[in-house]
Amino acid sequence: MRSSLNATSVAELSWMGRQASFAVPSALLMRGVHLAMGATSMGTRPSDDAIAALRKSWVSLLREDVKDARDGIYPSSLLTLPTRDVLSLLPDLAASLAKVVARSRRGDFSVEAVDGVDAGPVPLPSYYRRAFHWQADGWLSPRSARVYEPSVELLFAGAAAPMRRRALRPLKQALRGKHRPRVVDVACGAGGFLAQLAVTAPEARLSGFDLSASYVAHAKQTLAKSGVVAEVAVENAEALPLRDGLVDAATCVFLFHELPRQARRQVASELKRILVPGGTVVIVDAAQQHASPELAPFLDAFAGSYHEPYFRSYQLDPLEDVLQDVGLTVTSTSTAFVSRVVVARRL
Ligand SMILES: C[S@@+](CC[C@H](N)C(=O)[O-])C[C@H]1O[C@@H](n2cnc3c(N)ncnc32)[C@H](O)[C@@H]1O
Repeated sequence: MRSSLNATSVAELSWMGRQASFAVPSALLMRGVHLAMGATSMGTRPSDDAIAALRKSWVSLLREDVKDARDGIYPSSLLTLPTRDVLSLLPDLAASLAKVVARSRRGDFSVEAVDGVDAGPVPLPSYYRRAFHWQADGWLSPRSARVYEPSVELLFAGAAAPMRRRALRPLKQALRGKHRPRVVDVACGAGGFLAQLAVTAPEARLSGFDLSASYVAHAKQTLAKSGVVAEVAVENAEALPLRDGLVDAATCVFLFHELPRQARRQVASELKRILVPGGTVVIVDAAQQHASPELAPFLDAFAGSYHEPYFRSYQLDPLEDVLQDVGLTVTSTSTAFVSRVVVARRL
């Protein structure tokens, strides 16, 4: 007992140490970016209590990550940090920083014509065809796809992948006893989470959809490089190309806060439609104030600082309501650092 406790503590300390060595420079860099963007984008400084609560939830997230790896939910080889990717991204980020800072200071939300943008084969809804994250090309360019995952890790100081992994325990539970289950990752982005799904549920038949042709191309390339077999295609999550009741489980990570209210419900109803009766959907998305009131100062500032056009409306629209409105049954909710995990079933 004593030695296993020690082994756990050593694993936790080691993961926290590695995370801290990534988090501290990332946080300093992001602070510099914020200062350059101007005080207006930052809102007021959160209280010491709010900062302490944030640190505590970061420690809990990393503890759960180590516990899930130790319990065999996923291999501990997933517990890595993208330091090299982030370093190789720095010249690119530095080059675009002046533009981002200028847009942010002007509060400029317009979409610029961008060379190399590939609109793809599926019509793009107007809420999607716009700038996001102070990037004029929003989700649409190969460059946006290339920088997306390392930038998100910088933004969350290394905690993005651990937050996504909170989906894996409930997913694994949902797949227990199923032979070659079908699992779909909706809004799979650049494909990083699909790669984690593949090692967590190697027997699953995986597919992923995203509305960005550039992100899908990037996902296909990186998944092929790492030998992951998954069908990935450009599709609108509001109209998935799957027949009713086809999939055993669906995951959806960091999509809902990017959607306007009505689109959130349309996506949720598609998730319900494609699930087999008894199937499970696991959603990981940004924290919401009703579930994490201690994070209110950060959540208030986030929409403006990071230019998230639908984040304020997402804050007023609890995920459990969205899922229940379309007839899914919510079976659990939890918080994980600055995210939340909501699990629901189609009965
Ligand atoms: C914040 S990213 C999350 C990506 C990925 N799931 C992850 O965990 O990093 C949001 C993604 O949702 C996609 N997206 C937004 N609206 C969509 C829609 N209606 N249908 C499909 N994908 C959509 C974007 O193209 C983008 O890749």
